[in-house]
Amino acid sequence: MIIKRPSDIRPSEITDEAIYLDRRRFLQAAGFAALGAAAAVSPPARAASEASQPKIQGLVQSTLSIDEDPNSWEDITTYNNFYEFGTDKSDPHRKARDFQPRPWEVSVSGECDRPGTLSYADFVAPHTPEERIYRLRCVEAWSMVIPWVGIPMGDALKRFEPNSRAKYVTFKTLLDPKQMPGQRWPVLDWPYVEGLRIDEAMHPLAIFGIGVYGRELPNQNGAPLRIVVPWKYGFKSIKSIVSIEFTEKQPLSSWEKAAPSEYGFYANVNPEVDHPRWSQASERLIGKGIFAPRRPTEMFNGYADQVAQLYQGMDLTRNY
Ligand code: MTE
Repeated sequence: MIIKRPSDIRPSEITDEAIYLDRRRFLQAAGFAALGAAAAVSPPARAASEASQPKIQGLVQSTLSIDEDPNSWEDITTYNNFYEFGTDKSDPHRKARDFQPRPWEVSVSGECDRPGTLSYADFVAPHTPEERIYRLRCVEAWSMVIPWVGIPMGDALKRFEPNSRAKYVTFKTLLDPKQMPGQRWPVLDWPYVEGLRIDEAMHPLAIFGIGVYGRELPNQNGAPLRIVVPWKYGFKSIKSIVSIEFTEKQPLSSWEKAAPSEYGFYANVNPEVDHPRWSQASERLIGKGIFAPRRPTEMFNGYADQVAQLYQGMDLTRNY
């Protein structure tokens, strides 16, 4: 049996590898025999339909949206990366249907004067939700345009009064292999961890995503709370967050830990820096058909005017 080293892993490759291996044999060898039997039985396909997701009230349109037609609900909710529910793009919508995003608590700790534990409602209620159309650009060179519903991350974080030692913000996803079958596989070092520099987190374009198409987030998109950082590759947009910590030290994110030569801390969309094994210069547009022309990728995903100053003086080929 061949198990690739993390440094050999490309997100899109994991799927093929996982299918290629006899899953049960893989799990038994990894010491998960009992779980293997359960994981081998896939639940039937059933995506959360648009109509079944509760509407978010009091929504306002954001002026920060891009002027492009969004992808369909179907594209957005059935082509997902959420390895806690499997490594295939079609796994999350099938395997996350019984996930319970309520009740939900997010702990906020570290370098701040008002640490606390908040329920989802406490976290979201004081802010007016905004609909913002942003492109999600994946490191695997595809993209989608998504009408996210979110609240400005900076506004939500300020409430905890980060202190002067708070240089970074670390986010963690729920760790619950019972509900998240992908966590029974040692694909990543669970839980999924991501981080932002504090000034990135405070930037007006960064949001806590709480919905899509005016409705609460479907489980496969990171319910009940994820981040959306539109000038960075999609893997920075961590889903189903349970912990936020202000830190002085730069955190080690999950993909950086798994494959440091391929995935950096910054992960800014940069068509001029190739991934070690593929070009980042253009992107396939999901939902437009396989013969649609690829789109040339823009620096910082088209947000250079707003965010380039955050990285002034940094060598972006080294800080990838
Ligand atoms: N967050 C967690 N916890 N686990 C993941 O596997 N995948 C990331 C990101 N957030 C991921 C995650 C990647 S690679 C992408 S491209 C986006 O989620 C995909 O978001 P979407 O499925 O809502 O389009």
